[in-house]
Amino acid sequence: MTLYMIGIGLWDEKDITVKGAEAIKKCSKVFLENYTSKPGVSIERLEKFHGKKIILADRNLVEKHNYEILEPAKQECVSFLVIGDVFSATTHTDLYLTAIKEGINVIVINNASILNVVGIVGLELYKYGKTTSIPFHNKDVEAPYDVIKQNKKNKLHTLLLLDIDAEHNKYMMVKEAIEYLLRVENKRREKVFTKTTTCVGVARLGSEKPKIISGTAEQLLKADFGEPLHSLIVPGELHFVEEDALKQWKNI
Ligand SMILES: C[S@@+](CC[C@H](N)C(=O)[O-])C[C@H]1O[C@@H](n2cnc3c(N)ncnc32)[C@H](O)[C@@H]1O
Repeated sequence: MTLYMIGIGLWDEKDITVKGAEAIKKCSKVFLENYTSKPGVSIERLEKFHGKKIILADRNLVEKHNYEILEPAKQECVSFLVIGDVFSATTHTDLYLTAIKEGINVIVINNASILNVVGIVGLELYKYGKTTSIPFHNKDVEAPYDVIKQNKKNKLHTLLLLDIDAEHNKYMMVKEAIEYLLRVENKRREKVFTKTTTCVGVARLGSEKPKIISGTAEQLLKADFGEPLHSLIVPGELHFVEEDALKQWKNI
């Protein structure tokens, strides 16, 4: 019948669009992809709001056993929920293409993503360069440092997404991200990310109580961002309006 791929937004059960909530009502099965992000509320709260049982879909199910989602979608309506937006900073193109190839009707219902909600910081979204992620296992990883270097060369801002290990309930914090970048700086010594580099740490964007702090890397190391999820931004060249916007986040 139909596979609905629905972005549920970044925070609570009410961030879903009316269109998304109405689609879920029609579905006999509701999956929630739970390995690339984390909802701000419990699964029970989401289930209560939608009046449906939610099946958690881990990487193994989505990438290796996607027939568990696709087979029922051939007979009935099935929802595949994604935290944030369906195709933003996450890769569900394979599921989409396989569903289409198998003749399933697919309807995508979009929502806000970390990629646009980060606009609250006040840095122009069109002045961001390549986005990068910092993995937990980063001993020999320098790619995020190189992305900042390239973006800075082009006067562009860098959004760094921080790793998630949902299975072990582990979420990388701003502090760990800064420590990692300083470690790479210590090795490379190219002055791409030093203790005096201005950066902006953000946590729980999309909630009613987001935490946003701008300051030097050294200052942010001491800041308390609280519960996940966290991201880090390294600004490129700042327009004076962007400079003004960052001033409001300086009270640590
Ligand atoms: C793979 S991305 C999220 C993709 C998601 N589909 C979206 O559209 O936002 C997950 C990473 O984005 C960042 N992130 C997601 N939601 C966030 C939030 N509400 N506040 C701060 N950072 C967030 C974190 O660094 C997290 O590890």
